[in-house]
Amino acid sequence: MTANALVSPIPSSQPRTDSPTAVSTMVRLVRESFAVVEPHAEEVAQFFYGMLFTIEPSAREMFPANMQVQRSRLLRALVHVVQMVDRPDDLVPFLQQLGRDHRKFGVVSTHYEAVGMALISSVKKFAGPAWTDEVERAWAEAYTIMARSMLDAAAADEGPAYWPAEVISHERIGWEIAIVRVRPHYPVPYLPGQYVSVEVPQRPRLWRYLTPANAPRPDGTIDFHIRGVDGGWVSRSIVAHANVGDTWKMGPPMGRISVSRETSRDVLMVAGGTGVSPMRAIIDHLSQWGQNPHVHLFIGGRIEEDLYDVPALQSIAAVNPWLTVVPVVEEAGIPGTEQGTLADVVTRYGAWGDRDVLVSGSPGMIRATVSRMLVAGTPLDRITYDPFTVD
Ligand SMILES: Cc1cc2nc3c(=O)[nH]c(=O)nc-3n(C[C@H](O)[C@H](O)[C@H](O)COP(=O)(O)OP(=O)(O)OC[C@H]3O[C@@H](n4cnc5c(N)ncnc54)[C@H](O)[C@@H]3O)c2cc1C
Ligand code: HEM
Repeated sequence: MTANALVSPIPSSQPRTDSPTAVSTMVRLVRESFAVVEPHAEEVAQFFYGMLFTIEPSAREMFPANMQVQRSRLLRALVHVVQMVDRPDDLVPFLQQLGRDHRKFGVVSTHYEAVGMALISSVKKFAGPAWTDEVERAWAEAYTIMARSMLDAAAADEGPAYWPAEVISHERIGWEIAIVRVRPHYPVPYLPGQYVSVEVPQRPRLWRYLTPANAPRPDGTIDFHIRGVDGGWVSRSIVAHANVGDTWKMGPPMGRISVSRETSRDVLMVAGGTGVSPMRAIIDHLSQWGQNPHVHLFIGGRIEEDLYDVPALQSIAAVNPWLTVVPVVEEAGIPGTEQGTLADVVTRYGAWGDRDVLVSGSPGMIRATVSRMLVAGTPLDRITYDPFTVD
């Protein structure tokens, strides 16, 4: 396969919706062949990056200096996304945001060709007899659809590739959590509920997603709530070492968690840990008005300290009758809270079938909550979460 074949055959960013059977065959072939190589993920990744940096040496400087830290991040993301190609309604808007976001790396179309070649060569090398011409065509087609969506969106975007922002405060809430306020050099056009990719000077080239915890303000400042995860390269470094005066870089806003004030339906929000940030930003936005859809927020954590933000949210609820806040902890015996996981507690109330449901938190918490809600009878099309993120 030539490099050009990767990005030329599909003229538009949509899968071939004229033939759903062709799309489902393509996805089946991709999934089956990937299942064969999955047990060799480490070697596939090593081969993939080796090949990518040989074909396109200029790509090397986009990646972290120490590749051991996160050898499989891009590859894992690629494979995750390729397998979703039969879900264009979700996938295409996500890829468009991702394509705009990738401008921060300085990615251009030749890089996409190199990544596609490296991806397909790596899977081919480890797939053995499972690799056929038909399988190769399926991977090339699926990758081309993704690359095309990302490239088209990047080309159409006229905004900056990233926003520099100065850290103006850093407040530690106990050992694990910090609230960092930044002032972007120029306003970031995010919607309440969206997230951005952030690079901090202590960890060059290790971009991580963070979610503004406030609605856009006239002075443009943004608060991020950051939890230091065990063994976390970036989060621990921000919590412990971010300094006032540091310059952060932020990529373009992404994500689809939002609330429309036009909706006739009330809203259920389910937030685990710092997953409360998008909900906080939306509530901050809604609190400009006296009348809103009713918002029922379940905010959960493992232990009481995880609920550090509950008093602030309860004081917003005290003056905004459209908001109800329910704290949930897994630890037993904490007064004023419901006990259990978020999935347990939320489904104890029933299916919430009349609500728009927003879910945010770690990938594990999202999976558990969404699957339990579906079993409880909540319609899938009422539940919104950011589905393509990988941890
Ligand atoms: C859409 C989105 C929005 C996010 N918003 C925020 C936010 O507002 N505030 C915030 O603090 N974080 C947020 N995160 C998580 C954040 O992007 C990082 O993944 C997290 O801070 C860990 O990065 P790290 O470099 O410290 O850990 P890594 O070095 O990448 O990972 C170290 C270890 O931690 C585990 N790990 C990775 N992520 C998590 C996680 N989220 N929870 C538990 N364990 C994890 C890994 O599996 C690994 O074992 C968000 C993530 C997504 C996908
Ligand atoms: C269809 C093509 C592509 C898809 C679907 C894709 C997807 C992604 C996703 C989802 C991430 C974020 C992973 C995370 O942090 O959670 C990522 C990271 C990254 N991508 Fe891409 N990407 C594509 C093409 C490219 C290309 C062409 C380049 C340039 C060579 C590139 C360079 C990077 C880099 C440098 C990172 C951050 C480092 C890392 O996490 O590995 N990507 N990509």
